[in-house]
Amino acid sequence: MSCENVAVVGLQWGDEGKGKVVDALSRVCKYVVRFCGGANAGHTVVVGGERYALHLIPCGVLREGVTNVVGNGVAFDPTVAIEEIAGLRDRGVSIGPDNLLISAAAHVVMPWHRREDSLSEARLAGGKIGTTARGIGPCYADKARRSTAVRAADLLDATGLREKVRRIAEAKNTAFAALYEADPMDADAIADEFADYGRQIAPMVANTGAILRRAVAGEDRILFEGGQGSMLDVDHGTYPFVTSSAVTACGVPTGAGVPPSAVGQVVGLVKAYSTRVGAGPFPTEQDNEIGDRIRDRGREYGTTTGRPRRCGWLDAAALKYAADLCGAAEVALALLDVLSGFDEVKICTGYRAGGDPIEDYDAARLADVACDYETMEGWAEEITDARSFGDLPAAAQAYVGRIEQLIGRPVGLISVGPDREATIVHHTRVRGLS
Ligand code: IMP
Repeated sequence: MSCENVAVVGLQWGDEGKGKVVDALSRVCKYVVRFCGGANAGHTVVVGGERYALHLIPCGVLREGVTNVVGNGVAFDPTVAIEEIAGLRDRGVSIGPDNLLISAAAHVVMPWHRREDSLSEARLAGGKIGTTARGIGPCYADKARRSTAVRAADLLDATGLREKVRRIAEAKNTAFAALYEADPMDADAIADEFADYGRQIAPMVANTGAILRRAVAGEDRILFEGGQGSMLDVDHGTYPFVTSSAVTACGVPTGAGVPPSAVGQVVGLVKAYSTRVGAGPFPTEQDNEIGDRIRDRGREYGTTTGRPRRCGWLDAAALKYAADLCGAAEVALALLDVLSGFDEVKICTGYRAGGDPIEDYDAARLADVACDYETMEGWAEEITDARSFGDLPAAAQAYVGRIEQLIGRPVGLISVGPDREATIVHHTRVRGLS
């Protein structure tokens, strides 16, 4: 039997509209699993006009019968998770161990991680990465360092936790005082606070890898919900201007605890133009009226930080790279409606360095490249009410067709508005989307 699981991953710099596609697919999946990132993500789902912005809790939480999993690869921030759970419960969404599980092996974002993120960025000033200040990088750094890490399972043992927190806080206080002249943190207050979080989440903490591997062996379908986007991957993105986890489809097995063969079909999420938040190279950026217009129409401000996003034309060279890397079977094209009203639209088809075309894509060498653009006719009409490909203006259809050619993959779905209904099913082969 072929694997029916699906991985939804961003092919750009995040914010591709993953929430909506994950929500659509969660209708036909038993599990929705986050495998990377943490509260730096912001996934928006609109259900019946109600808008939900989720940071840590998988988007399947808005569907009955779905088990949501925060995988071992996630940087788990209990302060955010508990607030998010409370906010969802206030809005009538029931959350408990029957629909939300947290990997015992997920690393915990501790107060010193957020602190270091901010202090380090402030110190870097002009050279800063432009992080979300959620403590993500320092948390993953401690995961790799091992001796200063805290995992979700540690929160369940108050005595062991106090000992650990005292030891780590002492080391952090010494380092932060020397590096940043920072005031010391109160280890016992932190231990009390996090032991209390442990009590609150205890029923949901589980060996999620074992549960998912059992699902892989059976019939239950799993949806892997990516965070960020491939160009922010710690290995394959625009390093060092990246996040600190493996966010491509290659990160699924490690971050969820399943074998590579269980990843299933990969759907690459693509916005009809490009955006990026934070610093780093962005070859198709339009720091001009065009970018401003895209930002206004697309409401391109960070879900997590509220920062205005940098905006630009679609970069098919980067997309092809990311789609190849992720093994994307098809792409879902989001926010096509934002491009209505442009006389012409552009797509970057490749780069040049010193006048010569660059053959092999190298995400770490984008700083000084020049883009080759193809210019296409734009469309004036608003397209939010389109429900079939034929409803789209000819110029919009041609734009979609050209994207398919340039990245060598079918466009499975086209999103033309935030609501669940504002979706055109095009060439998808994923069961549940068609
Ligand atoms: P960090 O993940 O907070 O360390 O931030 C590193 C870089 O990734 C910054 O440029 C952030 O703006 C970016 N980033 C992290 N998470 C997201 C996301 O979910 N969407 C878009 N950009 C993100």
